[in-house]
Amino acid sequence: MLPGFSVEILPAVDSTNSELMRRARAGLADPVLLVAEHQTAGRGRLGRQWQDEGAPGNPDTLMFSLGLPLAPANWSGLSLAVGLCIAQRLHPDIRLKWPNDLWLQGRKLAGILIETVALSAANAPPDDSSARLCGLGRFVVIGVGINLKPRESAGLTTPPACLAELQPGLDAGKSLAQIAQALVATVQQFEQTGFAPFQHGFNARDALQGLAVNLSDGRHGVARGVDENGALLVATPAGVVKISSSEVSVRLDSGADVLG
Ligand code: BTN
Repeated sequence: MLPGFSVEILPAVDSTNSELMRRARAGLADPVLLVAEHQTAGRGRLGRQWQDEGAPGNPDTLMFSLGLPLAPANWSGLSLAVGLCIAQRLHPDIRLKWPNDLWLQGRKLAGILIETVALSAANAPPDDSSARLCGLGRFVVIGVGINLKPRESAGLTTPPACLAELQPGLDAGKSLAQIAQALVATVQQFEQTGFAPFQHGFNARDALQGLAVNLSDGRHGVARGVDENGALLVATPAGVVKISSSEVSVRLDSGADVLG
């Protein structure tokens, strides 16, 4: 299915991202796709939890992490390129909410959590060539969670979206098959080119375009798409600012209570 990658499916794990980060720190740096049917401690951005309500054998969420050595000249915009690829593979109506979310009709459909570990000869076993070949590259773990079926919306005024609304009958295996190869190709292209070739595609699906937004650092303005590095452009009373820190969260100024 994915040349050069091992593919593993676990009935349950704490978090596919945590598992691949542990392995990478122990020197296991070969390309891998790790899928879980249930996570006991799934993680989202900004220290949030990512909870699934499914069970081994009956997942309500597609949860996987793609791990591989990567050495782009510039890492900015990787999560945007990943989100764009997934949206393009799944449905024309899926929009992208900077920096890491996929939205459907203003509701969160999926989230992306990207983490990296430095690769060095020190954390690679003596016979592991992948880390050595990578020089100063890093092992990247790209975690993706996509709602497949309707989910609990307790505490949210806007219930999450799910893929069943777009493609009834789509299960975890079929949706992963729609995504996996294209995702690997996207990450490999990103390593060569950076974000610039993805800018137009992202802006065409930008969920925030032209909308009033509030930034978690107190600023507010109108979202104006992303630049060639994937920074969010926001027209504020003080002029257009570029938001590139993933530590700044962006919320619609409409009171919408959507995680992301
Ligand atoms: C977010 O919305 O903040 C990101 C959510 C990412 C969830 C996925 S599920 C598979 C992988 N393992 C994790 O623990 N998190 C990611």
